[in-house]
Amino acid sequence: MARPTEDIREHHKMLEERLHGFWHNIESLQKFSDQERGLLDDLMTFLKEELLPHAEGEEKHLYGKVAELMRNPLFTKTMEMDHQFIKQYITELETVIKNVHKESADVTIKRIQTTASKLQGIIDPHFQKENDVYLPILDEKLSKEQVEKEVIEPMHAYSGSHEGHGHGHGHHH
Ligand SMILES: [Fe+2]
Ligand SMILES: [Fe+2]
Repeated sequence: MARPTEDIREHHKMLEERLHGFWHNIESLQKFSDQERGLLDDLMTFLKEELLPHAEGEEKHLYGKVAELMRNPLFTKTMEMDHQFIKQYITELETVIKNVHKESADVTIKRIQTTASKLQGIIDPHFQKENDVYLPILDEKLSKEQVEKEVIEPMHAYSGSHEGHGHGHGHHH
């Protein structure tokens, strides 16, 4: 039988796949062609309109539920701090991309790649911690209906594209 948190896991998988596509694109940046700029725009839109709202909804409803079940509001503090770092690196990446015209393409691409790999370095283990530590707590203590009603439904309010698996904004992969 499917685990109660299967839908959250699916959603995470979709987010991770999209991110890996973007990281791959960033690795192969050459110059600032229109196509590459478009790609970076897509990445920033994804980060700001999908990833950050996801994190925000999670803090309220998923972490909130985990902390409640573990009877300790400090239980999820470190993961909330991960979110702060993620947010900070996204802002950093945005600034680097905005300043693109100030330096040579080579230098800027390097900066983008460095910042992006900081982001990737925290996001990858973050997903793993959620999937391997938090979701099993919900799986153990809640039914599929409870997860749906108490965690997933309230989270939908935070990201318009959270419905289904990632075809919210009509963006390509
Ligand atoms: Fe998540
Ligand atoms: Fe998260």
